[in-house]
Formats: sequence, C-alpha cells, structure tokens
Amino acid sequence: MIKWNPELYGRSLLCLMDFTDTEMLELVDLAVALKARRRAGIRGDLLQRRHIALIFEKGSTRTRTAASIAVRDEGGTAEYLSQNDIHLGAKESVKDTARVLGRTFDGILFRGFSQQRVADLAQHAGVPVWNGLTDAFHPTQILADLMTIKENFGRLKGLKVAYVGDGRNNVANSLMIGCMKAGINFANCTPAELLPDAELVKGARATGARKGATIEVCTDPLQGVKGANVIYTDVWVSMGEESERENRIRLLRPYQVNRALVEATGTPEDQFIFLHCLPAFHDRETTMTAESGALEVTDDVFEAPYSKVFDEAENRMHTIKALYVSALADGSAL
Ligand code: CP
Ligand code: NVA
Repeated sequence: MIKWNPELYGRSLLCLMDFTDTEMLELVDLAVALKARRRAGIRGDLLQRRHIALIFEKGSTRTRTAASIAVRDEGGTAEYLSQNDIHLGAKESVKDTARVLGRTFDGILFRGFSQQRVADLAQHAGVPVWNGLTDAFHPTQILADLMTIKENFGRLKGLKVAYVGDGRNNVANSLMIGCMKAGINFANCTPAELLPDAELVKGARATGARKGATIEVCTDPLQGVKGANVIYTDVWVSMGEESERENRIRLLRPYQVNRALVEATGTPEDQFIFLHCLPAFHDRETTMTAESGALEVTDDVFEAPYSKVFDEAENRMHTIKALYVSALADGSAL
C-alpha cells in the first residue's frame, strides 16, 4: 500500500521550505515505495494523460532525463523546452508564458538562473511548478539525497552530513535546509570568501532546532568533517559562474574531498557514505584542463564502495516521480 498525502495535491516546490518537515519526509518515503514498485517491474498509469513542460535555461543530464522519464513511466508525457525553443522572458513575459503553458500542461518543471522567475511561473501558471535548479536552490536534488541517505542508514534523524566546497551555492543552500527539516546535523566547510548567506543560515537553524539538529559553518574541513556519516561535495564552479573558475580553484583546492579528508571523519566505513549531486570533476577525463587532474573529489573516493553517487543519481527519477504523483495523481489510484 503506497501512502499518499492529499495535502500535497496541486502543490508547487520552489524551495524545500515550501513543505512541512513531515510533507518532505513523506515525499522521500513515497519515492522509496515508487522505486520498489518499478523494481518489481510494475509500470503504472498514475500520471496517464498528464503532461509536463520542462523549461531549461541551463544544461542538464540528470534532472532533464529524470523529469522526463518520471512522467512517461506512469503514462504521461513530457515536452522539453530549451530557452532557444520558446519566447520566455524575451519576446514574451514570464507571466504570459506561464498563463499559456498552464492552459496546456498539468505541471511545469523549470531550471534556470533566477529564483524570482520560477516563483513568477508558479504564481501565474495555475498548475504546479517545480524548481529543477536555480542559482539559489536545488530542492529536487536534495529529495534524492535524503532518499539515498535513508536507503543506506535506515534513518535520517541524528546523522551528520558535512558539505565541503562552495558553501553558498544552490546545492549547499538546499542541503542545509533539507538536513534541518530531517533532523540531520549539518556542517558547511567552506572558505571565508564563500560563506552561506547569514539570514538563510539563521532561518535554517530555527527549522533544525525543532528537531535538535545543528548547523556548523567552518573554514577548516578537517575539523568540520569529524564524526560525519556523509561527506557531500559539488562542483566548485556552478553553471553561470564560469568566469570565476580560476579564483574558485585557488580558493577551494584545500577543500578537495580525498582519502585524507574521509579518514579525518573518524567514522567507521560501514557508517559512512560519499555523495555528490554530479556532474563531478573527479578525473582527468572530466576535468577541462587536463593537467589539473581531479578537482572537488579524487578518483579513489569517487569510485570507493562507500560512494553512492550513482544510486543518488538514479534516485532523482524516483523523487521527481514522487513529486509529480503527489501533486497530480488521483490518490485513490495508488
Ligand atoms: N544533479 C543534477 O542536477 O544534474 P544535472 O545538472 O545533470 O541535471
Ligand atoms: N551547483 C551546481 C549544481 C549542478 C547540478 C550548478 O549550479 O551548476
């Protein structure tokens, strides 16, 4: 029996703060159930005749494919609209585009630069809008991360996640919020130049306090990772910030996730996992300048048995499906 929360019907997700702690955790559990269902070979029709617009202003491998297959798997369709395909924000206002797409589609997943733009879409579309990454937040990623953590530890509350890298990017922001809502202690290890927004940390701390979860922001990664069950990193240069590349590499070299950093956790290997939202610069093949080798994570950590990055990538599909199903499906069909 799959549990479905009617409170989530018709709801958008712009930032994890849009959901109560319980709603967020129920979505993770729904994704676990949907994954088991798919593994059992069941292709459902929960989203039959549901149509999702996928608006992408930035590149994507995981989010685009996960968002497309999640709806098709359940009998619906997805239409990919790159910024070159539609008039959004150029020949046509965001408000008008939202109203047009809302007449044709049952939901919109948006990836782009501005958080305001995804909020404007949600305000005017009249259908649920999901944030598939903006400069500020990446909430659908964190649902998959929490799912992967739960799959590995059987629980969330009381664990410790240490994020190491660009401490003020979209993934770091959303991960901090997601951890607080799940009762996970969170350490953000980042240089002084890349500290997260103080107001955001304050709000997240208040959220975490309800569950006894804490936030530590520290510039010393060896200190910050102590006792961590999860080390999480992301690229040092996010999409749209390419001009910062040289400076970021200089600032973040001491924050590379390597074997010494993993050992500094002091955590037994069966109580530890490594996560990365991907794409990752972990070897020469993926590094833009061949001579620089690995950037944010070394190959030995990326390929270690405790690295769960491909489970995490797969879970993008199950969690986005959970979002669609909660917002669009008839609960009695579950
Ligand atoms: N993690 C993630 O969002 O990957 P993509 O950029 O490939 O969608
Ligand atoms: N912080 C990264 C995440 C990619 C999934 C970026 O915005 O490019």
